[in-house]
Amino acid sequence: MDRLPPPLDLAATKQGLGAWTTEQIAGYLGKGYSARAGSFGPMNAVIANSTRHLTPADLRAIAVYLASLGGADYEGPAATAEEGRPGRPLYEEHCRECHGDSGRGGLFDGPPLAGSAVVQGEDASSLINVILYGSDRPESIASPAWEAMPAYADRLDDGEIAALGNYLRASWGNRAPPVTPERVARQRGGD
Ligand code: HEC
Repeated sequence: MDRLPPPLDLAATKQGLGAWTTEQIAGYLGKGYSARAGSFGPMNAVIANSTRHLTPADLRAIAVYLASLGGADYEGPAATAEEGRPGRPLYEEHCRECHGDSGRGGLFDGPPLAGSAVVQGEDASSLINVILYGSDRPESIASPAWEAMPAYADRLDDGEIAALGNYLRASWGNRAPPVTPERVARQRGGD
């Protein structure tokens, strides 16, 4: 049977949660954000309706379990620096203000994209989702410091979103397969 590529790697790999501390994993599930990421997409409902109500001990148990998941770093075909180049001016125009010069994010601006599991998901669904639709997160799980991630569905076309995706996937030590405009178009169409 063919293995579907994972949209997110939750193991402690370079493409997964390897850079997260257990406190950051527990904080994300309990509050909707940590220094590594803020909630968006399907996780909004999971965190707002469910994990936010768990006890600190249960959150910690989940975090310790996730941090214990071993796994291999991704070694397959990856977006190249050349494929990423067309996305750079788009990043500088639309994204740098919050995600920083080297994708490092900032306490008052947004999460880091260097080492991000969303940016490096083998299947690009989550990455495309957050660029198309923004975070759309309820106030109950909003970071008090960050402005929400805006939606770009009406501002960037499929080719531009794919170019941005490739820039993020080929920069700052990130490694993940390329994103095509067709893939973005399918997701915009609801697939
Ligand atoms: C106004 C600030 C702002 C701008 C501009 C912005 N973002 Fe974001 N971004 C955020 C915040 C904040 C989050 C975390 C979700 C939340 O809390 O809203 C985020 C989350 C993300 C994530 C998910 C990261 C992860 O690991 O969870 C990606 C990928 C991303 N943004 C890419 C982009 C791209 C590409 C652009 C430009 C087209 C962009 N962002 C523009 C603030 C911003």
